[in-house]
Amino acid sequence: MCGIVGIVGTQPVAGRLVDALKRLEYRGYDSAGVATIHEGALDRRRAEGKLFNLERRLADEPLAGNIGIAHTRWATHGVPNETNAHPHFVDGVAVVHNGIIENFSEIRDELLADGASFKSQTDTEVVAQLLAKYTREGLGHRDAMLKMLRRVTGAYALVVMFKDDPDTLMGALSGPPLAVGYGKGEMFIGSDAIALSPFTNEITYLVDGDCVVINRKGAEIMDHNGNRVERPRQITQAAAFLVDKGNHRHFMEKEIHEQPEVISHALSHYIDFTSGTVKVDTAIDFSAVRSLAISACGTAYLAGLTGKYWFERYARLPVEIDVASEFRYREMPLSPDQAALFISQSGETADTLASLRYCKAEGLKIGAVVNVKESTIARESDAVFPILAGPEIGVASTKAFTCQLAVLAALSIAAGRERGTISAAEETALVKALMEMPRIMTRVLNSIQPQIESLSRDLSRYKDVLYLGRGTSYPLALEGALKLKEISYIHAEGYAAGELKHGPIALIDENMPVIVIAPHDRFFEKTVSNMQEVAARGGKIIFITDEKGAAASKLPTMATIVLPMVEEIISPMIYALPIQMIAYYTAVFMGTDVDQPRNLAKSVTVE
Ligand code: M6R
Repeated sequence: MCGIVGIVGTQPVAGRLVDALKRLEYRGYDSAGVATIHEGALDRRRAEGKLFNLERRLADEPLAGNIGIAHTRWATHGVPNETNAHPHFVDGVAVVHNGIIENFSEIRDELLADGASFKSQTDTEVVAQLLAKYTREGLGHRDAMLKMLRRVTGAYALVVMFKDDPDTLMGALSGPPLAVGYGKGEMFIGSDAIALSPFTNEITYLVDGDCVVINRKGAEIMDHNGNRVERPRQITQAAAFLVDKGNHRHFMEKEIHEQPEVISHALSHYIDFTSGTVKVDTAIDFSAVRSLAISACGTAYLAGLTGKYWFERYARLPVEIDVASEFRYREMPLSPDQAALFISQSGETADTLASLRYCKAEGLKIGAVVNVKESTIARESDAVFPILAGPEIGVASTKAFTCQLAVLAALSIAAGRERGTISAAEETALVKALMEMPRIMTRVLNSIQPQIESLSRDLSRYKDVLYLGRGTSYPLALEGALKLKEISYIHAEGYAAGELKHGPIALIDENMPVIVIAPHDRFFEKTVSNMQEVAARGGKIIFITDEKGAAASKLPTMATIVLPMVEEIISPMIYALPIQMIAYYTAVFMGTDVDQPRNLAKSVTVE
């Protein structure tokens, strides 16, 4: 995820900005840049790749100036090259941005029709273009900023600098975090307290909808209408920690809300946005493979189970899947005309690694879907498919799960194309659905929170919860149950909805909430029949569905969570959001240690 930092100082800032960027490296990035104002001129240095490339550029061509902004970019819109690196300049306006401007293409078209010319492929450039246009039209900087904020939608943390005002930086946020730091005669702004820790430990976390103007004397915070608001200052211990929770109570909450951004980043790695096709460079020739063996643990296994539905449906490729602790001892007959896929956030899980080594010894081509690219599982694989979720700190996996799903969806489409089992038109339609996912995720995250919080308060009073789903909603039912028990310690089970009458129905009574995951897809009617069986026995139903599904079912529910209508391929990622939030808020009400639940470790390197 992108990192931002800005200084209004009394001494040269370029070197200090780069030092602050180093603190943000943990977020992941693929290019970086810094801009300053000196003697009335705006100037910048940018470089693709790691920060030492930027440092080298600065050593060759130093930047003077006591005010500046800097950025580490994690590409979402546009490839990671110098042209797309921030800061973006338009007519004396400099902008750095973290997040996604969702209506950028509409604004860009409008500005192009107005005669603007764009230099980058980024969504960010529309912000600089709008600010330049509004100031050309005669608005002051502050009014231009507020007008721009009312025009853009999406998730953003922005810091802006105007060439003709070398004493002021402006910032704004809606989604990604931004903090203001207080120094002695200097002021700072950055993505988190860690970025600001070399300068100050006195900070204010801004909240969604805030816009801030900072100069050497202090900060003025307002809402998007320009009304003054107060935010508390606090002393942080950020220097002592590797990563920071920002405005969130827990890393898990932060990671849930990061999903639109990280999925967007992951997709940019696997999708060619221009041609609307998947781009997967792999040592595995799916067209020559007889079947696929998938193995993983916990949440990663459930991502793999979802992947099985996709590989079988879109690529007509048979998939064998098992949890790694069983797979490794199954003595499964394997042959070199099969391939194996191992899914692991950490890339270090002992059982998954042992399964990988077993398959390797049998001569299979090995693929790894991992978050940590330098991990053992990645190093021992023939093909590595990074999920690009950024560091996941909460023990309960959230953003890694949806990024694993996004990568598996792209791989299954690529396999379908290679095997000739999907047409070009089908590929385009599937890719289009994937591309819409970040926007829909943002919408869902913004809309369902109050309802889920109140539902979770009720759920926290129960001892057992059942989750049901069919098709790709079945692995999600398992994931919902895993997430809930992992962090709230409430007993939960996930079942394929059709299995209900083969045993678990005996558990149904008024003390058993049943969470039914049922988008209005080809399985909907069947799942509703299973819901009827629950209702008939006094079970309390929590129905997670879409607009059509909510209209079609007349059954009484404890709660109905209505999501937007989405294409079938993205429903596991979209429906994962309420599932994660139910677990999160229930655990918060239970007062458990959400990020470090008892008995669990983030990386399980023992058998
Ligand atoms: O690092 P890995 O993805 O290999 O970890 C696998 C499981 O330990 C992990 O998914 C675990 O189930 C999570 N805590 C679930 O939230």
